[in-house]
Amino acid sequence: MKVTAICPGSYDPPTNGHVDILSRCVLMYERVVAAVVVNPSKTALFSLDERMDFLRELVPGIEVRSFSGLLVDAATEWSAQVIVKGLRGAADFEYEQQMAHMNRHLTGVDTVFVPSSPELMFVSSSLVKEVSALGGDVSSLVPGIIHDAMKERHVG
Ligand code: PNS
Repeated sequence: MKVTAICPGSYDPPTNGHVDILSRCVLMYERVVAAVVVNPSKTALFSLDERMDFLRELVPGIEVRSFSGLLVDAATEWSAQVIVKGLRGAADFEYEQQMAHMNRHLTGVDTVFVPSSPELMFVSSSLVKEVSALGGDVSSLVPGIIHDAMKERHVG
């Protein structure tokens, strides 16, 4: 059976942690859809189109789409059988477990958790933005094109 995995997130910006999980998904699933959430109530550093273009450039072999509303509806529309989430640690698990149960309750779609590579367990988009804006070096935590784009946005 040809399995499609959907990997949702804000991806603002994509980090080495995202690239890690998405690249490993490409090895495990026949079709991988990176699903960038449209969230008008959240102010993003990069526009939706920028984030989608970054992902296309960073991870060969994936489809990149955007969605608003429920993730499970996007999964159904794109015929994804599996939601994939990266897990950095116990705090992620607590939250993600609840969402996994809710999503399965809603449509029956299951969630697969992929452990972050150990060297990336502390990396998140929000921390990368905060550290970078305050002058810290995040060059080893995000891909080069993201680092350059953050510098242009004056947060690097
Ligand atoms: O990268 P993020 O911001 O941690 O991603 C969160 C995301 C997009 C995976 C989550 O907020 C989500 O699934 N949003 C879609 C709305 C939805 O389906 N909510 C119910 C979740 S049980």
